[in-house]
Amino acid sequence: MTDICILGMGYIGLPTAVMLAESGCRVLGVDTNPLVREALGRGEPHIEEPGLRDRLKAVVASGALRAAETPAPADVFIIAVPTPLTVDKRADMRHVAAAAEALTPFLRPGSLVILESTSPPGTCAELLRPILEAGGRRVGEDVFLAHCPERVLPGRIFTELVENDRVIGGTDPRAAAMARDLYARFVKGDIFLTDATTAEMVKLIENTFRDVNIALANETAVLCEAMGIDFWSVMRLANRHPRVGLHRAGPGVGGHCISVDPWFLVERFSGSTPLIALARRVNDAMPAHVVDRVTAMLAGVPRPVVALFGLAYKGDVDDLRESPALALARLLEERGCEVRAHDPFAQRAPLPNLTPEACLDGADLLLVATAHSAFAELDPEDTAALMRGRRVYDAHRLLPADRWAAAGFTVEVLGVG
Ligand SMILES: NC(=O)c1ccc[n+]([C@@H]2O[C@H](COP(=O)([O-])OP(=O)(O)OC[C@H]3O[C@@H](n4cnc5c(N)ncnc54)[C@H](O)[C@@H]3O)[C@@H](O)[C@H]2O)c1
Repeated sequence: MTDICILGMGYIGLPTAVMLAESGCRVLGVDTNPLVREALGRGEPHIEEPGLRDRLKAVVASGALRAAETPAPADVFIIAVPTPLTVDKRADMRHVAAAAEALTPFLRPGSLVILESTSPPGTCAELLRPILEAGGRRVGEDVFLAHCPERVLPGRIFTELVENDRVIGGTDPRAAAMARDLYARFVKGDIFLTDATTAEMVKLIENTFRDVNIALANETAVLCEAMGIDFWSVMRLANRHPRVGLHRAGPGVGGHCISVDPWFLVERFSGSTPLIALARRVNDAMPAHVVDRVTAMLAGVPRPVVALFGLAYKGDVDDLRESPALALARLLEERGCEVRAHDPFAQRAPLPNLTPEACLDGADLLLVATAHSAFAELDPEDTAALMRGRRVYDAHRLLPADRWAAAGFTVEVLGVG
């Protein structure tokens, strides 16, 4: 039986641990957070993900997945710890380095170390290799090292872990082949082997592609507003071209991937990334653009109350990391608004997460900040009965504007002039 030790039991590490445990491996889930370990020990998820609760319970009950504070000897170590940004927009690699240092004493001859965390190009070669080689061990001879970036979408993790194609980069071909054999236990998509630095670059450029294209959509939306036309019609019609795929505009880009990963390239190649850096700035400027429009709608209202619907960074997830909705709340408060928030998914929100009714009660404006599908079903008449004003700003073009206008609302939509 293969012994696997996974460091980091978060959105990525925990479902991966469950998949490997289900595939017949003996999995040790290591996390530095005692609350995560306690939940895992009880067989309970500390994150929301469809299917996780039942599957986790089963593999913990069978003993196939156990929680631990420190690693133990294993055939495969998987690093799935956070790689956040520092305040000066650099990759904070302390967790990855700490995880590598922690597992090194437990390497067996022939052990494979897999980095799943999204990392700047060169991390395997320049950061991990020296750590693993401390004490005279040789990567590629005594132990093996690969990067297997993760591309799953929260909310669909168990489906995408199986169905997505995977890119696996080894620091040598044997490491790549060993990692392929492990993932082939559950991956039904194609597995492509390459070198570690190429795999690191592939992951970063995927998210950078999205970020740059969203910036183009956001800039186009602002142009459409200035022209008095509708970005959403422009998008629909432009996308009838067989080689065009204009992205959706929105109030900014959040999450720990698309809004973070491009900075890893800017950091590494600061003089050679004008486009990538500019796209980041365009997207980061969107919350201020939305707040300009919202405050214009509220001109003349003393101490306006804004009902902020949505805190998560995108629709139908609970993840608040880098969420533009939080930037909207902060900027609105700076402009003298009282902000009341409601999000049906978010737990641990930095501002009180009210019921829809408490959030709307006496509000002057409803701001749809996150595209949660439940918001599309809001009833304009019921909403009007609770609010003091009849204003709605839709940053995602989620609501049926005609129905809201018919209920007496002034409706403004991002990208519509
Ligand atoms: N969540 C996603 O959708 C997603 C998708 C693709 C890639 N990624 C990447 O995967 C990596 C992990 O992301 P996540 O969303 O799972 O993060 P997360 O914050 O949900 O989980 C990370 C876990 O690692 C633990 N941890 C921190 N330092 C540790 C250490 N030294 N040893 C053991 N545990 C430690 C934390 O306590 C936390 O529970 C990141 O690099 C992220 O960019 C995430």
